[in-house]
Amino acid sequence: MKNIIAIYPGTFDPLTNGHLDLIERGSKIFDKLIVAILRNPEKEPLFSLAERQEMMEAMTRRYGNVEIDVFEGLLVEFAMKHKAQAVLRGIRAVSDYEYELQMAMMNRRLDPELETVFMLPAEKYSYVSSRLIKEIFQLGGSVRGLVPDLVEDRLRVKVNGPEPGAPGAEKAGKK
Ligand code: PNS
Repeated sequence: MKNIIAIYPGTFDPLTNGHLDLIERGSKIFDKLIVAILRNPEKEPLFSLAERQEMMEAMTRRYGNVEIDVFEGLLVEFAMKHKAQAVLRGIRAVSDYEYELQMAMMNRRLDPELETVFMLPAEKYSYVSSRLIKEIFQLGGSVRGLVPDLVEDRLRVKVNGPEPGAPGAEKAGKK
């Protein structure tokens, strides 16, 4: 029997319920799913790599066949290192397609053996993106139900500082 390993790469800054929805779908069809978080210092992410990794690990612990890893450099090289046969990507709307097609074709050129598999997240997450989550939250809007509660809490601390009485709050307040 085939043992299909897939990589689900992304920036995940931050992880959304749309990403989690895709991870759950991917975990059902692949034997092993490696969520690969991109180390991208030039993009100045809101959450550090360690923070993104920790949130992802906490939210995917319940899946026995999902692993979390980080990568930099070419995705095809990471896939090869892990003996993965597929890359999983989500397509929310037609607007995603052009960028995803370009990446999939480029990855195919770099490694013709690596297949890109597209899956659709649940309709209720079809308009959710990490970029909009950050923007809405920073402007005081509600992101409840669009990201895990843990991510919402971390966003609150990132944007407003720690709650009074929380570890580190005193130090942050003195700034
Ligand atoms: O969540 P994102 O930002 O849409 O994910 C983009 C990602 C990480 C999949 C893409 O930028 C990537 O694969 N980067 C690694 C470098 C690489 O291999 N680039 C060529 C892809 S064609």
